[in-house]
Amino acid sequence: MPGTMSKWTTQSIRGLKGKRPIVCVTAYDAVTAVLADEAEVDLILVGDSVGTTMLGFETTVPVTVDMMVHHTAAVARARPAALLVADVPFAAGCHEFDRVLDTCARLMREGGAEAVKIEGGEAMAPVVARLVRAGIPVLGHIGLLPQRYYALGGYRRFGRTPAEREHLLADVRALQDAGAFAIVAEMLDSGCAAALTGELEVPMIGIGCGPDCDGQILVCNDLLGYSVKKVPGFVKQYGDLAGEARKGFAAYARDVREKKFPSAGKSV
Ligand code: KIV
Repeated sequence: MPGTMSKWTTQSIRGLKGKRPIVCVTAYDAVTAVLADEAEVDLILVGDSVGTTMLGFETTVPVTVDMMVHHTAAVARARPAALLVADVPFAAGCHEFDRVLDTCARLMREGGAEAVKIEGGEAMAPVVARLVRAGIPVLGHIGLLPQRYYALGGYRRFGRTPAEREHLLADVRALQDAGAFAIVAEMLDSGCAAALTGELEVPMIGIGCGPDCDGQILVCNDLLGYSVKKVPGFVKQYGDLAGEARKGFAAYARDVREKKFPSAGKSV
């Protein structure tokens, strides 16, 4: 296990299962990555949530591979000790395998990602297996798959019925067998999440899944309060960056209008 600020790898993240909770967070730029890394998070995900949190889209569907490469490269420039994982965006995991491989290679080669995350369970397991065989570490993602927003007709919680629980069990087993080094579970019933976590040999990282996963991930804007939208109910806000930004912009605007900035002594 890495000591203070030594580099996290897929192997060392996997080795945390059963030892201590794994701390994961999203970041989309170098500044946020430096600050998250200073807090010694274990894994930074450049999520396609960049689309809804930073780029003004209503869903993650419009996010492209080019956008993901751009934001992943910004985070990589921070040279985080955390493991750097990049999301494969909407539909990009569903092409012919060579094209999927090319997308993942771009995220790693141009973006500097050390692993990729792909949304989807059993149906995506064959792709995950081929990527892993090609030397691309994969983080799975089950439960609520935000890229399926239009297919689902909105966002909801999963794993509340026996049939859904069975499906989810098949999903995590297939991803583990395919070689995923860990699996993100989003918006699962907490009892279901606990049961799946106990089933798996690889870590399960929860978001909106209750306390019994091997680790937690939150979207950085949600946890820091840097958002102009409503955050999901499961989020705990540890800051009010939007409030601070509003105060700062208002004070600056007032000072310029009242000719208090630049002040006489400080102007260049
Ligand atoms: O895109 C993202 O930020 C994610 C997390 C919610 C896990 O997939």
